[in-house]
Amino acid sequence: MSMMKAIQVLAKGEPMKLVKIPVPQPGEGQVLLRVEACGVCYGDSKVIEGATSEYPRIPGHEVVGIVEKLGTGSTKWKIGQRVGIGWHGGNGNTTALTIDGGYAEYMVAFENALIVIPEEISAEEAAPLLCAGETSFSALRNSKARPGDLVAISGIGGLGHLAVQYAKKAGFQTVAISRGSEKEKLVRELGANYYIDSEKEDPAKVLKELGGAKVILATAPNAKVISSLINGLGTDGELIIAAVSDEPLELSPMDFLSGPNTVRGTFTDIKEMEAAIQFSVLTDVRPMIEVFPLECAKEAYEKMMAAKTHFRAVLSMSK
Ligand SMILES: NC(=O)c1ccc[n+]([C@@H]2O[C@H](COP(=O)([O-])OP(=O)(O)OC[C@H]3O[C@@H](n4cnc5c(N)ncnc54)[C@H](OP(=O)(O)O)[C@@H]3O)[C@@H](O)[C@H]2O)c1
Ligand SMILES: [Zn+2]
Repeated sequence: MSMMKAIQVLAKGEPMKLVKIPVPQPGEGQVLLRVEACGVCYGDSKVIEGATSEYPRIPGHEVVGIVEKLGTGSTKWKIGQRVGIGWHGGNGNTTALTIDGGYAEYMVAFENALIVIPEEISAEEAAPLLCAGETSFSALRNSKARPGDLVAISGIGGLGHLAVQYAKKAGFQTVAISRGSEKEKLVRELGANYYIDSEKEDPAKVLKELGGAKVILATAPNAKVISSLINGLGTDGELIIAAVSDEPLELSPMDFLSGPNTVRGTFTDIKEMEAAIQFSVLTDVRPMIEVFPLECAKEAYEKMMAAKTHFRAVLSMSK
């Protein structure tokens, strides 16, 4: 039996662990991927917090790999093709929650959950686009913002640094909001026109002084921070929440009086994922990545959770 290295969470609340387990076999409508790279997303914390259907579970939902083997009845892909998979696991599954993910040398995926990864982009750079990229891209392209509008991104991590680039490429006046001044230089290089240090200034007040934002994309996973942003909207503005937090938002009816403001979430699907990859290739949007070998997944995850990664950690199986 062929064996593979993988990172597993053995039970709710337990740290991830490097294990050697049999290579999984693709069933009907599935393919076996030889994983090339997998991004480390804040969403991976859900696996440790106990949101998965069963344990042990392999995290990782930003996966690029090569089709290695076809299950019975799988006709969509050819062996050797390079493909990617995000949260949408296919057939009602969520990658890394109801099926194992890509912190492993091999992964089984439903064929209808996969998209082509163009050759212009490396596996390590494509991986973060499959969740961080698609989420921020889709939020902005389906927003009220039009070229020239003021658009703010709160939280500069995996999602946020891509959102800054997408906003800039879409022709928005782009504002980055981050705690401290450490990320200013990098974020300006990515295209931010304005930088707000939320430890020194109230982001909502600064946004109002700039005329009020048409759209604010909240990626910082903190309900208090998200709630405070609504006051930075201009007339008929939109606060879009990509960040996940279990805490309730604190909004007052007064917050909605400056125009028909809206607060909403984002929803993505496989078509948005394809569009995010295509737009990124077309406009040269790339994630800034720190590459780690699979063995260092725990270190990569902890660095991401401490918001110390610039800006997306990626596990590379060839490192
Ligand atoms: N809706 C979706 O489909 C979807 C998809 C992917 C991810 N998500 C969610 O989006 C959020 C961001 O994911 P990510 O992978 O970009 O995470 P990340 O790389 O850790 O970035 C999040 C950023 O938010 C800021 N931040 C973190 N903790 C904070 C806190 N307690 N208070 C204020 N700011 C904080 C930090 O930015 P600064 O250092 O710049 O302040 C951090 O870099 C997560 O909640 C994730 O679960 C949602
Ligand atoms: Zn994610």
